[in-house]
Amino acid sequence: MKLSKIARLRILSAFALCVPFASLAAETEASPILGNSANGHEQFVRKCASCHTVDPGGRSYLGPNLHGVFGRVVGSYEGFRYGPPYLAAARAGEVWTPERTFAYLLDPTAMFKGGRMILRIRDETIRADLTAYLLSISPEYRSK
Ligand code: HEC
Repeated sequence: MKLSKIARLRILSAFALCVPFASLAAETEASPILGNSANGHEQFVRKCASCHTVDPGGRSYLGPNLHGVFGRVVGSYEGFRYGPPYLAAARAGEVWTPERTFAYLLDPTAMFKGGRMILRIRDETIRADLTAYLLSISPEYRSK
């Protein structure tokens, strides 16, 4: 059976529609999670420093001190009273890494349901900058 001209056109245009979507998917790559540490520091001062100190062995405010946070077991800063989801992660031996933190900052309560850290950083660039800054205050951390 011969295809009518209209049917052939339909098949062609359906194919043409698929091509741009296929190439879009191929171009979508994992975004870098380490951004600009200096910008991250600025963001930290604005968004995080009211609750978190970063000096070695520093005191905790509403949130735990974050010096050396990468490589540290979740929920383990000496003397800070963590909520139950963080303590459960601590028992499971979960460790803060740049990858985990980048994901965490998008929605901390999604990772730790019922946790008291609720600030969400939706902007990917700002999250990457903050992650780079946290790496800069984690001198002991060696990524595998
Ligand atoms: C209003 C206070 C507050 C602000 C602002 C805040 N946090 Fe927190 N953060 C907390 C609290 C409270 C916890 C502990 C949560 C719990 O125990 O339920 C926490 C926990 C954390 C932890 C886990 C630490 C550990 O030892 O397991 C990280 C990492 C963290 N915050 C990063 C940040 C960053 C980065 C920012 C800024 C973008 C920020 N926080 C802003 C209150 C805050």
